[in-house]
Amino acid sequence: MTLSPFVLLRSCSSLRFCWRRCFRVVVGLILVCVLGLMYLTINAPRDNFHIKTLKVHKGCKHEANCGTKPTGFYNATRTTTFTSKGSIENQHLAVKAGYLNVHTWFGICGTAVDNLRLWPHFPYLPDKRSSIWGFQRTQDHATDSNGERIFGFVHPQRDGIYQFAITSDDASELWLSCNESVAFSERIARVYSPSESAWTEEGDYQKYPEQISKKITLQANKRYYIETLSKQGSGAAHVAVYWSFNSSKFEIISSRFLSNYSESKNHESIPPHVGKLGVISIQGIQDWIEDKGNLFHFNRLPLLDRKLYTSYIPTCPYSPSFLVRRKLQPQEAAWKWMANESYVYPKDDTDMITSIFQSYWSKPNPLIDEGRVESVVNKFMTMGSLNSRDYFLKKIHKVIQKPDPKNGDRFLLNLELGLNNTNQTFRLSEHVYQPKGKDNLCLPDGMNWNNSAKVYFILPVKDQGNWVQHFINQLTDASLLTNDTNFHVMVIDFESKDIDMAKAFNTSLLSSRHNIISLTGKFYKTLALNKAVQLVPHAHDIIFLIDLHVDVPADIMDSVRMNTIAGRMTYFPVVGRLECDSSSIEHRGFWQMNGYGIMAIYKSDWDKFGGMNTRDYKYRWGGEDWDLLNRVMMLPVEVERIKYPGLYHHYHAKQRQWN
Ligand SMILES: *[C@@H]1O[C@H](CO)[C@@H](O)[C@H](O)[C@H]1NC(C)=O
Ligand SMILES: *[C@@H]1O[C@H](CO)[C@@H](O)[C@H](O)[C@H]1NC(C)=O
Ligand SMILES: *[C@@H]1O[C@H](CO)[C@@H](O)[C@H](O)[C@H]1NC(C)=O
Ligand SMILES: *[C@@H]1O[C@H](CO)[C@@H](O)[C@H](O)[C@H]1NC(C)=O
Ligand SMILES: *[C@@H]1O[C@H](CO)[C@@H](O)[C@H](O)[C@H]1NC(C)=O
Ligand SMILES: *[C@@H]1O[C@H](CO)[C@@H](O)[C@H](O)[C@H]1NC(C)=O
Ligand SMILES: *[C@@H]1O[C@H](CO)[C@@H](O)[C@H](O)[C@H]1NC(C)=O
Ligand SMILES: *[C@@H]1O[C@H](CO)[C@@H](O)[C@H](O)[C@H]1NC(C)=O
Ligand SMILES: *[C@@H]1O[C@H](CO)[C@@H](O)[C@H](O)[C@H]1NC(C)=O
Ligand SMILES: *[C@@H]1O[C@H](CO)[C@@H](O)[C@H](O)[C@H]1NC(C)=O
Repeated sequence: MTLSPFVLLRSCSSLRFCWRRCFRVVVGLILVCVLGLMYLTINAPRDNFHIKTLKVHKGCKHEANCGTKPTGFYNATRTTTFTSKGSIENQHLAVKAGYLNVHTWFGICGTAVDNLRLWPHFPYLPDKRSSIWGFQRTQDHATDSNGERIFGFVHPQRDGIYQFAITSDDASELWLSCNESVAFSERIARVYSPSESAWTEEGDYQKYPEQISKKITLQANKRYYIETLSKQGSGAAHVAVYWSFNSSKFEIISSRFLSNYSESKNHESIPPHVGKLGVISIQGIQDWIEDKGNLFHFNRLPLLDRKLYTSYIPTCPYSPSFLVRRKLQPQEAAWKWMANESYVYPKDDTDMITSIFQSYWSKPNPLIDEGRVESVVNKFMTMGSLNSRDYFLKKIHKVIQKPDPKNGDRFLLNLELGLNNTNQTFRLSEHVYQPKGKDNLCLPDGMNWNNSAKVYFILPVKDQGNWVQHFINQLTDASLLTNDTNFHVMVIDFESKDIDMAKAFNTSLLSSRHNIISLTGKFYKTLALNKAVQLVPHAHDIIFLIDLHVDVPADIMDSVRMNTIAGRMTYFPVVGRLECDSSSIEHRGFWQMNGYGIMAIYKSDWDKFGGMNTRDYKYRWGGEDWDLLNRVMMLPVEVERIKYPGLYHHYHAKQRQWN
């Protein structure tokens, strides 16, 4: 269970209400659960921590306090007096003195706990690990933009009724389990305000209504899993957790009642965070699984044999008016916005909400007229004689239209077809063309995509260990979800010190599907890309330049294959840049309409245009993608451009980047 909500959103075309913003979070969370369940059913070798997930549970009924789920937060701070009869510190029983584990993440914007919770490296890839003695941590301003997780066990030494409280600067949450299982923890208190960035002074556990927990029965000689999450914006930071026994006064939980969580250096040993599963009901998850066993169902369907319709639908010459047939000025293609966007149907989840205003840069993919889609699909079914041979349309999965007002429009049809009197379902994914002024469709000559082409991810890296691990997790999830293993990763590593690259890629999926190319010295991106592409073995392999800091949408490989055609078409999916404090679930930010760094092309075409320009773009950043776009367009080949749901670039602090 990596935080792979990004994977999720691309499945949206099959979710009826998906575009409704209010469902996004639910869908994301459900999918996280489904990932976990698929893991259990697929029973993949457990050599990677990213699939780690929690079993769905209904509460520990047999445990002391576990029968009653919290019904809300106990806002008793104003009605209950806490007298000091018998301080907890007076309990002198078996001493369980110990530390708590502290995991810290740097450079996350925002002051809300969700900013930490939704961060791609939470909870399995902390930037720093340390420990504390006693449930109190005070830090100076060096904590700006940090997120922290403190966890371990609390050991009550008397049976009875306890209450917990938390104070912090800025916001925080306190989670407690009804026993030592992480999976049964629940949020019991928090420093939170719906209207402002919440924070308190140390000791002030009455500032916000949810800072004090309800009453909780605990047993002596048992240990209970406990954790806090806290997020700091700027300035001095603190977190402290208090408890009270039998209505005594609140005291900070001291080390005598704490012990740490046993963890080794690897990610495997890090406890999951229950809050990742979020707030949706258990029943909701189960309903989803029962009737939605068909996640990424479309990608798994057998492709309809092309021969079934190619003899019925005529082939026609295809030469779009926007193909460049002259020499372009340097960077002209980018300056003049020559790579036009395509249209989609149905509406997809590509609306980037900005906190400022809805601009050209945040608009979703433009929508194809519904009547036009119906007309094209019906024509295809009829002209291809599919109807008359008992194939019927079950569903329009996705249609992409490349408009060419001069010569006519091309469509990429993705249809789900059934065959009468059988229970068979097929996938049809085909480029069709409607020349201008013609009523009929034809198959654009040469626009045959290769379903078995191998996709080579090209990934240049220097000292971004956590992001490399993020990439590995995402790619692994994508492959599991779609059952697509026809890919290979070329990592070009400039002496990374913060990750053991060979070990990280030594997983059952990736050990035979990667190469690590070691380069020394300063990060030299253009050279790195060229070196890696040289090692791609065949002219009929697809090169896919990818970046760190981006999510890998689950069906991206399939999309790359359909939209990359040797000698005819290259693919430059548009990347969504998330704002500093935004996550892939709510995706606030903008589409990088002027960025062309993520692209797919056949090796044969790459060799034709000569690859990256290593002479003019050595160490400086920016511009090399514009240079590349120019030369690609002059091949000439068509450039396919579409905002890709889930292809998000996460904000990362500049100073920790590369050199
Ligand atoms: C915690 O309680 C739940 C529910 O009673 C139980 O299923 C689980 O095994 C318990 N965990 C431990 C470690 O005792
Ligand atoms: C808690 O506070 C809310 C709003 O202030 C109030 O409506 C509710 O009745 C309170 N609950 C208890 C148990 O006091
Ligand atoms: C809790 O407090 C009540 C009232 O002060 C007292 O009667 C009771 O003995 C206390 N229980 C324990 C376990 O200390
Ligand atoms: C945490 O606990 C383990 C054993 O459970 C112990 O080996 C380790 O030293 C502890 N770490 C700290 C920082 O106390
Ligand atoms: C790009 O789209 C615009 C607006 O639809 C259109 O006017 C222009 O001709 C298109 N450019 C190309 C090269 O197709
Ligand atoms: C095939 O099945 C579909 C859906 O059940 C139905 O609408 C269609 O009429 C059937 N076609 C034939 C030729 O039986
Ligand atoms: C289709 O599936 C149904 C229910 O699963 C089954 O009863 C029926 O025999 C199947 N039909 C064919 C042609 O396989
Ligand atoms: C499709 O890709 C496979 C694998 O790279 C290759 O063997 C095959 O020749 C390709 N087919 C065509 C028609 O190019
Ligand atoms: C996954 O793909 C393999 C072939 O690559 C196939 O044998 C297997 O049945 C597929 N599994 C699922 C669950 O689709
Ligand atoms: C990869 O893992 C296997 C065992 O799973 C081990 O034998 C091998 O040495 C590892 N290779 C590297 C490069 O770490």
